[in-house]
Amino acid sequence: MPLCSFSLPSPVADAPSQRVRTFRARRGRLSDAHHEALATLVGRWGLDAHGEPLDLAATFGRTGPVVVDIGCGMGESTRVQAAGAPGSDLIAVDVHTRGIATLLRQVQRDGATNVRVVLGDAVEFLEQRIDDEALAGARIYFPDPWPKARHRKRRLVQPVFVALLVDKLAPGAFIHCATDDMDYADQMLEVFGAEPRLQNPFDAFAPRPIPEAHDRPVTKYERRARRLGHPVRDVWVTRRLWV
Ligand SMILES: C[S@@+](CC[C@H](N)C(=O)[O-])C[C@H]1O[C@@H](n2cnc3c(N)ncnc32)[C@H](O)[C@@H]1O
Repeated sequence: MPLCSFSLPSPVADAPSQRVRTFRARRGRLSDAHHEALATLVGRWGLDAHGEPLDLAATFGRTGPVVVDIGCGMGESTRVQAAGAPGSDLIAVDVHTRGIATLLRQVQRDGATNVRVVLGDAVEFLEQRIDDEALAGARIYFPDPWPKARHRKRRLVQPVFVALLVDKLAPGAFIHCATDDMDYADQMLEVFGAEPRLQNPFDAFAPRPIPEAHDRPVTKYERRARRLGHPVRDVWVTRRLWV
């Protein structure tokens, strides 16, 4: 029996109306290859965004650290980090159907047994499918910046979301973010700083991890930031062992 079947069309239509969406509706056609990936590869690599809490050991066939990649896009960093840390398991989540279809094809090509893919809203996925204290870490790389003041409420890194995410982290687990929007970077420091269960070992922004160590490779958004002369900030916090 397949682990899940992703429903089409766009999950944007399924988002609960009472919640502010952190993502934008995207148009654009899916190619035949995308349709085929969604139809054939989901049973092997996909997880439903909704349902009962997952048994992560059963999902991956082993007990090990599990990290979520929230808003993984096309999964450019997911793949590199999965290959660079074969002892860790990765769950990549995005609402972007084309990105997830592309990632499914590549995960299949890579034979990356330590990756699972979710098409859906990461907030709902965390709420419904992840037990408290189950995760070893969470990555949020280049979240949608929502630069206009009237849109800032749509940013993902807000106190309510961070409280949910911290519920899901094991003591000592990390959150690693990167952004080239300096206002958002400051907001991340502020929101994480206000969450009593988190600590920031750097007291400020973290140094950029070494790409060669597979710890945040340089991807499309960072390449674009460099082209435009925008600095990129990393934020790294961990859940305190006790509060
Ligand atoms: C700017 S892209 C960055 C993609 C990727 N992390 C990277 O660095 O290449 C931000 C992604 O976050 C996704 N996103 C935003 N809010 C989300 C949510 N609540 N759940 C899942 N994905 C979300 C968007 O669909 C988009 O693909």
